[in-house]
Amino acid sequence: MALWGGRFSDAPADAVFALSRSVHFDWRLAPYDLRSSKAHLAVLEKSGILSKEIASSIRKAIGELQSEVASGKFLPIAADEDVHSALERGLTEKLGEIGGSLRAGRSRNDQVATDLKLFAIDHMLEIARLISELQIALMEKAAEYGDAPAPGFTHMQHAQPVLFGHELAKHVHAFARDIDRIMDWLERTSVSPLGAGALSGSSLPLSPETTASDLGFSTSAGNSIDAVSDRDFVAEALFILSLVGIHLSRIGEEWCLWATTEFGWAHVADAYSTGSSIMPQKKNPDMAELARGKAGRLVGNLTGVLTMLKGLPFAYNRDLQEDKEPLFDSIDTLLLVMPAITGMVATTSFDRRKMLAATPLGFSLATEIADFLVRAHVPFASAHEAAGKCVALCESQGIELHQLTDEQFASVHPQLTKDVRSVLTTEGALAARITKGASSPAAFAEQIKVLKKENADTASVIASKSKAFSEMMGQ
Ligand code: ARG
Repeated sequence: MALWGGRFSDAPADAVFALSRSVHFDWRLAPYDLRSSKAHLAVLEKSGILSKEIASSIRKAIGELQSEVASGKFLPIAADEDVHSALERGLTEKLGEIGGSLRAGRSRNDQVATDLKLFAIDHMLEIARLISELQIALMEKAAEYGDAPAPGFTHMQHAQPVLFGHELAKHVHAFARDIDRIMDWLERTSVSPLGAGALSGSSLPLSPETTASDLGFSTSAGNSIDAVSDRDFVAEALFILSLVGIHLSRIGEEWCLWATTEFGWAHVADAYSTGSSIMPQKKNPDMAELARGKAGRLVGNLTGVLTMLKGLPFAYNRDLQEDKEPLFDSIDTLLLVMPAITGMVATTSFDRRKMLAATPLGFSLATEIADFLVRAHVPFASAHEAAGKCVALCESQGIELHQLTDEQFASVHPQLTKDVRSVLTTEGALAARITKGASSPAAFAEQIKVLKKENADTASVIASKSKAFSEMMGQ
């Protein structure tokens, strides 16, 4: 059903209608559109623009449409341009002419911005919940391997020993920042555009603050022109979703590496692996690869929207219709990826023996020698030089640091007494790490305790916000 046409003598050309049409992708805004229509109806009634009788028949028809949309009984037809026109057709089919009453004081411009915000809030809360579940899987795996030493890498070269649980727990921190970003985004997004009309507000006695609070927003827009053209919330959401995707891609890369025959650390469960159509022996970490690959499309959606917004004149321009598909796609992508990665993490087992055997390789305890000398008040530059000489000596003789004799240590530096051997074990090196956030058993235990508490606290905030949102939608 066309929402305009009075001043036109010709109907739109087929090509124009085809390019204009968005209902095939914006139909998923229908529940939010109907709910915001209820809020708008309430202020039209309160202000006396619609009589009680008319308002109550419209309210009833909206309620019916809500169930028919949910059950799939009411669907868009070929002639519908977008979700707003399809739903107005639905109301008109039920009510006749008064089905068009809701357009008073409202434009598709403030309507679509409101619908999309509600959609985004709903789904960003769901993404936050899925992130929190992935954190739980990571924390459990981290705790399971909290006593397992493994080589830590910089430049992908052996650097210093770490606890493997510490290696896994680092991801929980990255995801905590993502949840934090979503919470912060929610605050900033909580401004209702409804009441801005086409661009300048309304001459009807509406109450944007009332519709805002009815829909769970903290406030209504302070500038009607900004209200209809602001898509910062889409761009920011896409950035957050991209960063979540990037964090997932870094997990993906680690899993791929750790599952190689050369590493042989990770055993990905069969249920989270795939096979090859030609090589019967193959077991591939495809979920990890998909997590890595999907990050590209998430970043693509972000750059697409930023580019669309760049230089865009204010108020509504049809370019803005291009905001939806990237947002929907990024959300759908993460809704698919996150449960698979959570499952993959939860069911992977790691080879402690292999990780332990690899830990001292590559002279990863050399820093311990330097720190040993620093504790004996040798300036670090000289201590570093001496430790380097120990490594060179080992390399020339094809031995490991702990295999140097007392005499060899003493020949490198007089203060390298035989006590140095106490730090030349993986356990000694790990236990010696005393700083906050370090990879020692004590610091790790503290880290996991803090992470678990933070995760439980944010999970309950997410749950209560989601509950409030679904209660609002149910009203
Ligand atoms: N389908 C449009 C969109 O998604 C709705 C707004 C149309 N407004 C307009 N003035 N043509 O952006």
